[in-house]
Amino acid sequence: MRHDHLITSKQLSRADIETVLDRAAAIDADPAAVADRHAGTLLGLLFFEPSTRTKMSFETAIKRLGGDVVDMGSVESSSVKKGETLADTVRVIEGYADALVLRHPKQGSATMASEFVDVPLLNAGDGAGHHPTQTLLDLYTIRENAGLDDLTIGIMGDLKYGRTVHSLAYALTNFDARQHFVSPESLQLPREVVYDLHQSGSDAQVREHESLEEVLPSLDVLYVTRIQRERFPDENEYQQVAGEYRIDSETLAAANDDLTVMHPLPRVDEIAPEVDDTEYAAYFEQAHNGVSVRMALLDLLLSDGGDDDE
Ligand code: NCD
Repeated sequence: MRHDHLITSKQLSRADIETVLDRAAAIDADPAAVADRHAGTLLGLLFFEPSTRTKMSFETAIKRLGGDVVDMGSVESSSVKKGETLADTVRVIEGYADALVLRHPKQGSATMASEFVDVPLLNAGDGAGHHPTQTLLDLYTIRENAGLDDLTIGIMGDLKYGRTVHSLAYALTNFDARQHFVSPESLQLPREVVYDLHQSGSDAQVREHESLEEVLPSLDVLYVTRIQRERFPDENEYQQVAGEYRIDSETLAAANDDLTVMHPLPRVDEIAPEVDDTEYAAYFEQAHNGVSVRMALLDLLLSDGGDDDE
């Protein structure tokens, strides 16, 4: 794998994905083997939007590889507050760190920022755009629970603003996957994403639905997402769709016994807590997988273009 920056999952071939997932599996099997591999390496964290999992799992990942972080901290306490541009901020912080992780509310910000830096820049979410490192841990979780071959997946909720959805949908075109998108009409996938998915040659494999009922029994994986309240231009529009597309034990009575339920988290009320203790629930395991997958990715990016020296 040889990428300077990771901005979107469209950059990732099936071979790239498998390289990261295989490396993550090896790390899970023997974490001690990589404990000092990146001693002295510093990862710059630039989070302009709230984050718990992504930020903390990147921090855990680099520390478990022997490195450390330099963290811009909150927007409130940084020079962004004084009006510094993103281009200037990343140019300064690249001088302190060996790679940068950026989360920003503006779609396209990661692409723009990457043009100003030479160290690898990882997009940890750009507005309603992309979130490719989440996709890698999602694929790892799918591979562990259901396998990535001959997969039938339902992706439900806010498909319009959900960046984890966009990234996952593109990545799945590398595999033999039937993708069923379930949402209210107002939160359907952006048309350009649907167009791209069709262009990828998987026409028969992409379907859109307004109801989960018609597809649930056929699913191997159900990927539930939060309605992205912060991205709605109008609070009234949010209120019209809030609370729709919620799953609970009753909903899941119609599911296949082997169904795996995933969610990038945080959840608001899309999955009833009673589902947590069922065999279906894989969302906490999914969040934990963020550490080994990000360790694998950092290891590959920071090892001189990803030479396989294990
Ligand atoms: C997601 C995000 O930030 O896009 N969270 C995450 O990184 N696990 C999903 C969300 O906020 O709904």
